[in-house]
Amino acid sequence: MPDILALTAPQNVLPAFTQHCALLGHHEHQLALILAGEAQPALHKLTLSAPVQAIQFPQAHSNWLMASFSTSGAISPYLHQSRLSVAALGHCDEHASWCQRYQLLPSASLSQLVTAMLASELNDGQTLASSLHQLATTLSGHYAVIVQDQLQPQYLYALQGGLGLWVGQEDGLRQICTTSAKAMRQSANSAYEMKPQEVVRFGLSQPTFIAADESTAPISMSSGKQIQVPHHMLDEIQSQTHTLAAQVDRYHSGKLFSTALLAKLSALRSITLVASGSSFHAAMIASYWLEQLGGCKVQVELASEYRFREVHPAPDEMLIGISQSGETADTLEAIRLAQRKGAAQTVALTNAPGSTLTSLCDHTLLTESGHELSVSSTKSFTAQLLLLYQFALALGQARKALSSEALQTAEQQMRRLSAAVQTTLEHSKEIRRWASELHRKANLFVIGRHAMYPVALEGAFKFKEVAYQNATGYAAGELKHGPITLIDEELPVIACLPWNEHAERMLSNLHEIRSNHGEIFVLSDGNLASSERFHVIHMPTGLGNLSPITYVIALQLLAYHCALQRGNVIDTPRNLQKARTS
Ligand code: BG6
Repeated sequence: MPDILALTAPQNVLPAFTQHCALLGHHEHQLALILAGEAQPALHKLTLSAPVQAIQFPQAHSNWLMASFSTSGAISPYLHQSRLSVAALGHCDEHASWCQRYQLLPSASLSQLVTAMLASELNDGQTLASSLHQLATTLSGHYAVIVQDQLQPQYLYALQGGLGLWVGQEDGLRQICTTSAKAMRQSANSAYEMKPQEVVRFGLSQPTFIAADESTAPISMSSGKQIQVPHHMLDEIQSQTHTLAAQVDRYHSGKLFSTALLAKLSALRSITLVASGSSFHAAMIASYWLEQLGGCKVQVELASEYRFREVHPAPDEMLIGISQSGETADTLEAIRLAQRKGAAQTVALTNAPGSTLTSLCDHTLLTESGHELSVSSTKSFTAQLLLLYQFALALGQARKALSSEALQTAEQQMRRLSAAVQTTLEHSKEIRRWASELHRKANLFVIGRHAMYPVALEGAFKFKEVAYQNATGYAAGELKHGPITLIDEELPVIACLPWNEHAERMLSNLHEIRSNHGEIFVLSDGNLASSERFHVIHMPTGLGNLSPITYVIALQLLAYHCALQRGNVIDTPRNLQKARTS
């Protein structure tokens, strides 16, 4: 998972940094860091292979450093005129118009943009503290920023706009990072999670809040142990603000799709998506985007079925294997079969670089959501979705199926995504309340229409995987063709109801459920009020086609809380493995 981080220490900070790198999990990482020792600060880029054992640093000693980690190298701190060092992660609203205002290319990174904004304030005679407060009030979005100014090299500054940023200290070592609780839990004695609009200054002395007029106030830090997250699944659900913001950044870096892959898109006649489990649901959701935004015919296939069929791949068909692990036997065999039958263009969409799937396929699309420790997919699932959405946009452009207005709208929606995910997570209390009722039920229905149908399937799948509840996902329009007979007081229905052109029909489905005495739990961005046996959680608005991501996150959280209240083991559910290799 991409991260930004800064460390300071009275002694050489590099050994502590090496330890930090060792926490990175199983991916190869591109590390970009600004180091300053006796010499001027300089930017260095290195590749780390995990597990990290030894790192050859370009210099032997440094009291502070600022670093970014990502698997693509798309995120990097920015060094301006050997004076300002800025590491920024996430995105801001109106990125392109801010870039234009500061005479930057629209593809400028957030670090470059923040640097330009701060440099302009400093040139106008402002202090760094007031410039940072100004930044925090003008820039909306979902981001975290760490800054160092060579004119006062003893200090680093940090602020966050909705993306978690943690200050920690352990003996003389001070650290600030976006790694959520993980790194802090393992290494910091005391820690503090920053809030939006706060600016923190830290160096060799205690970290403090600093106001625009440079007055300081102490930070009350709590024990690092108090920020433990009880389960990897919850940690991974919560980290989606962060993983998705970074994925939006990667899209804007323009480096997401290789030229070789882009060159294939205009001539395609159809796309086949083949996958298992949650990845199959991601494929189903993406099929709506690939048809609508990409203007292409799409088939979605269950790998475990496809691999035993007499398939006839066409030369102008692209086969995309989706697997977060890249090792699921059914998906690998499906790709092998298609290749034997003449499939000419294969793509691996995975979270695992170097996996068998990537070695089988002609092209690779990497989700960079970081190693997922819980067996049930959460952050890797939404990373698949966002990457497939971005692929649909690339497809639509290559095939001239997408107007520039539609592209602009889609990109605006993407920029809102991380904040919308945060808003969804803030419903945690209501979701827990729903779970206190729902976890007692043996059977549940989850329903939706259009792209919310596979969202319902994935939600139901989560209930089965971790809560061991018999949840069934249905296309809401199918209820009347049979399953409506099962509706009664004992069978709650969870409904995904975005306020779009399908809402009317969905409401009439809910009406029918009510008249059969069903209890309904609705996730909706519509103006609905809760009433007896009709419970509403209000979802964020303005996401358009991307709303499946927030709805699925609400369902992940709901299934998690049901599992918790049922007393289940969360991260390693019975009978399940992360990837079925046989
Ligand atoms: C199963 C897991 O074994 O594999 C599911 O239990 C997962 O959670 C499925 O969705 C497919 O995995 P992958 O790695 O191919 O996406």
